[in-house]
Amino acid sequence: MSKMEVKTSLLDNMIGVGDMVLLEPLSEDSFIGNLKNRFDHNEIYTYIGSVVISMNPYKPLPIYTAEKVEEYRNRNFYELSPHIYALADEAYRSLRDQDKDQCILITGESGSGKTEASKFVMSYVAAVCGKGQEVNKVKEQLLQSNPVLEAFGNAKTVRNDNSSRFGKYMDIEFDFKGDPLGGVISNYLLEKSRVVKQPRGERNFHIFYQLLSGASEDTLKNLKLDRDFSKYNYLSLDSATVNGLDDAASFRTVRNAMQIVGFMEDEVQSVLELVAAVLKLGNIEFKPESRVNGFDESRVKDKNDLKEMCELLGLEQSVLERAFSFRTVEAKMEKVSTTLNVAQAYYARDALAKNLYSRLFSWLVNRINESIKAQTKVRKKVMGVLDIYGFEIFEDNSFEQFIINYCNEKLQQIFIELTLREEQEEYVREGIEWTNIEYFNNAIICDLIENNQNGILAMLDEECLRPGTVTDETFLDKLNTVCAEHQHFESRQSKNSKFLTDHSLPHNCFRIQHYAGKVLYRVEGFVDKNNDLLYRDLSQAMYKANHSLIKLLFPEGNPSKVNLKRPPTAGFQFKASVGTLMKNLLTKNPNYIRCIKPNDKKAAHIFTDSLVCHQVRYLGLMENVRVRRAGYAFRQAYEPCLERYKMLCKQTWPHWRGPVRDGVEVLLTDLQVPVEEFAYGRSKIFIRNPRTLFFLEEKRRQCLEDLATLIQKIFRGWKSRRQFLLLKKSQVVVAAWYRRYAQQKKYQKIRCSALVVQSFIRGWKARKILRELKYKKRCEEAVTTIAAYWHGTQARRELRRLKEEAQNKHAVSVIWAAWLGTKARRELKRLKEEARRKHAIAVIWAYWLGLKVRREYRKFFRANAGKKIYDFTIQRIMQKYFLGLKTTTLSMSPIDKSWPAKPYGFLEGTHQELRRIFHLWRCKKYRSKFTKEMKATYEEKLAASELFKDKKALYPSSVGQPFKGDYVELSKNPKYQKLNSLVEDKVLLADVVSKINRANGKGAPRMFLLTKNNFVLADQKTGQVKTSVPLPDLSSVSVSTQNDGFFALRVKEGATSAAKGDFLLSSDRLIEIITKLHRIGSASADRNQIKIDISDEFLVQFKQDKVCVKFIQGAPKNGNGVICKRKNNRLLEVSVPSP
Ligand SMILES: Nc1ncnc2c1ncn2[C@@H]1O[C@H](COP(=O)(O)OP(=O)(O)O)[C@@H](O)[C@H]1O
Ligand SMILES: [Mg+2]
Repeated sequence: MSKMEVKTSLLDNMIGVGDMVLLEPLSEDSFIGNLKNRFDHNEIYTYIGSVVISMNPYKPLPIYTAEKVEEYRNRNFYELSPHIYALADEAYRSLRDQDKDQCILITGESGSGKTEASKFVMSYVAAVCGKGQEVNKVKEQLLQSNPVLEAFGNAKTVRNDNSSRFGKYMDIEFDFKGDPLGGVISNYLLEKSRVVKQPRGERNFHIFYQLLSGASEDTLKNLKLDRDFSKYNYLSLDSATVNGLDDAASFRTVRNAMQIVGFMEDEVQSVLELVAAVLKLGNIEFKPESRVNGFDESRVKDKNDLKEMCELLGLEQSVLERAFSFRTVEAKMEKVSTTLNVAQAYYARDALAKNLYSRLFSWLVNRINESIKAQTKVRKKVMGVLDIYGFEIFEDNSFEQFIINYCNEKLQQIFIELTLREEQEEYVREGIEWTNIEYFNNAIICDLIENNQNGILAMLDEECLRPGTVTDETFLDKLNTVCAEHQHFESRQSKNSKFLTDHSLPHNCFRIQHYAGKVLYRVEGFVDKNNDLLYRDLSQAMYKANHSLIKLLFPEGNPSKVNLKRPPTAGFQFKASVGTLMKNLLTKNPNYIRCIKPNDKKAAHIFTDSLVCHQVRYLGLMENVRVRRAGYAFRQAYEPCLERYKMLCKQTWPHWRGPVRDGVEVLLTDLQVPVEEFAYGRSKIFIRNPRTLFFLEEKRRQCLEDLATLIQKIFRGWKSRRQFLLLKKSQVVVAAWYRRYAQQKKYQKIRCSALVVQSFIRGWKARKILRELKYKKRCEEAVTTIAAYWHGTQARRELRRLKEEAQNKHAVSVIWAAWLGTKARRELKRLKEEARRKHAIAVIWAYWLGLKVRREYRKFFRANAGKKIYDFTIQRIMQKYFLGLKTTTLSMSPIDKSWPAKPYGFLEGTHQELRRIFHLWRCKKYRSKFTKEMKATYEEKLAASELFKDKKALYPSSVGQPFKGDYVELSKNPKYQKLNSLVEDKVLLADVVSKINRANGKGAPRMFLLTKNNFVLADQKTGQVKTSVPLPDLSSVSVSTQNDGFFALRVKEGATSAAKGDFLLSSDRLIEIITKLHRIGSASADRNQIKIDISDEFLVQFKQDKVCVKFIQGAPKNGNGVICKRKNNRLLEVSVPSP
């Protein structure tokens, strides 16, 4: 809430009553009691309506700070507790905003705080008015004029250590914005008698002491002064130094202030010279000198001071000396010169000193005015501040008091007139019926003093100008005759008999009943002071001075402008200036500050009732209150009034919607306040009796208490509710956040786990695939390597062969081809590798796609997926199986029994069938490689196998032996040349066999030849043919089952060759021989096959005998082979070693 919105009132926190108008009951005692009460609480300001009463606290109070200035700035007068700032603010604002010239009238007796108050007003205005370089300079000059004037115009008195000994009125001028432009100071009646004589306990004007204490030695020397006060007659010694006053420091302040105000250095010097001159003047003393003609004459006693003074002012010593001794009176063009006696000389000296000083003071004021006067000609707004001496009632009252009190009468007159006028105007403005107010009008006293025909001042002037002997007594007589009838004039000698016996009224006195009380004036000195004579010789002497300032101060001393007319009297001058002042003040809006001093001791905290009572009386403060209360004691604009009391009525609380005036009316009606207590103005409500106001205030106070409780209650409820709601809201927020956080954590954990599981599975799957792929690759690589090795071996073998065949060109091409093959294979391998990799990628991709698709479509295909997957899997397995077989290297040997193990059970049949097919195929392949000879050989071998396999024990040993046929190399051996030529057919077999002797069973070697048509037995050594038997004669062949080479060739009975009987032979190559023999039979169509008997007992025809050949199992083989023995005629036993 801004400061402006705070609606406070003077009525808040009041000590006593802040406005005396509200005092109830109103009496002098209550009035003073209220002042005392407030004074005791440091409340030195109290209002009477818009008038401020100010009690001098005689101690610094913390109420003049910059913060206070801000507090009172732009606030309404009754808004805050009474303060001089409120008045200053009100005055300044009406000046600035309403264009009304203002005057601030500060009255009160000496030491009551008038000068301080005027300074507070000025400093407040300076603080709140505009700012800026130029404006600040003006402000500074205006403020600094004070110390200068105080130094020259103030003095210590018994009442006040810094008493102003002149009246001062200062107009401060502002422009339309309220910025200060400058000022004009008027001074009234300086108490110049103080220059030459001071009452006991008082001092001369401050400047004398300040100069002597504060000036440098050089300055003092220039001014021919001595620092010692006691050297100067004009300075009273008993109170030369004042507690709390530092004259030396003040001197520096004054000099500084003079500089700021705009005094030139030489001007300051001249001023100080004049001050010094006054001091010197006081030291000039006279001694009597009797002249012959009996007239007393005076002489200057010690001319040193006179000399120094003349030097200071540039005067001729003799001129001044003469002026102190003679007086020239001019009358009717005739100059008469008379001598002055000692008393007259002193009178002349003092008159000169007083005039010199008072003229210097006036010059200072003018000089200051010159500096501070506004620099523009535009219309200005003016605020006048009047700090004038207050009513003075001493034991001994003289001309000065008379003048001063006259001035105060005039001010009171203005006060009455303006206050009442303002009151009246307000009533008219507000449309309230004007009721006549009974009050004492002091116009009658003013008339007694200033009436031009028979006023006291006029009488005095008349007396002064009157030829003949004029004394104070003649003046009093005149008053007694002229003013005797006047109600306010009292004198012992007046015709009014009631004072004849009044002993309080001395004979040389008259008494005036001023509005503020009766004052007794002693007439002594009235005439003299009114005349204020300075002998012309002195002014002329001054004019002759070679000193610009002095010359300026005594213009009447100019001999060319001799004015024979008497100068206006002091009374006349004062009356005129007061008249001007009054006229001036009447054009302005007045603001009153009534200063009261609480005690005579200049002490804080002391409140002397009698003294205050006296001041209250003569300041007419009670009258003031009565006048103010005569109509309506209290008034207030409707709005603040309604604002303040609206809680007292239901209709107006808390808001009144209609016009404020109606609101106030409703409010007052509701409160049942008597109608005559109120008057409704246009903008204000007027309250006749303070009691009514207090009644309202009391009601308001009670109501406020209730309201405070209510507000407190509601506020506490609201606060708690808000707190609770906040807590609830916070709790929800916190919980939500926490839950979110917890869920988030949980989710993250699950996600992490899922990822881990996923990655594990994927890794595992990938590794599996990789493992498979790697294995496949390794297999392939192994195959390739083996193939490469094999091919390498082949190639090397081929190469070797080729090399052996003497570097056949073909070899080269073979190598080339092989190399090309290698290259191609390598390329192939690479391509295969690439294809495999692609394939692997495709497979992985397919797997992944499959996975994806499966995942995607699982939901759609769950029912028939099994079969499809099964089919696919079977298909895939078959494919894999076949492809696997394709790449499996199988032995091409027909006798190789190896075959890969069956991969799947269900493939059993296929696997075996494939094995069979493969075997057939490789046999075919094997066979296809055979040559004709090999084929024949194999056919023989096959025939042998058919004949003997599993029938004869010798057979297995024959399998490995190739059937060579010709073992004796018949054609090459010359031994058998004849034999060879004998045989016309091709020899199928030639070998050496054993012919068993029929008699003993012993073997004899014989050459055995076999052709297509017969067999031949020949001598092994000679080759001579012993027997040749055509094959068709052979009927059968007998062999044993044993492991022996015995065979019997049986010849058909009846054949030509049968003569000798059958042939029993033995050969290691039995199998070959018999096989070939058998084959010849089967090969030729015209012959029957030879029958072959295999038995361990067979009959052999030896010539006529048939002998049985029997085979028995002999002892195990021990080097001796088969043993054949003739057992008897019929038996031939063959013992075969057991295997
Ligand atoms: N408002 C005040 N606060 C403190 N001291 C004050 C106040 N008014 C006056 N005084 C004291 O009283 C003394 C006399 O005041 P001053 O204004 O010179 O009186 P006046 O001008 O009426 O003779 C001052 O020197 C000062 O010490
Ligand atoms: Mg003063």
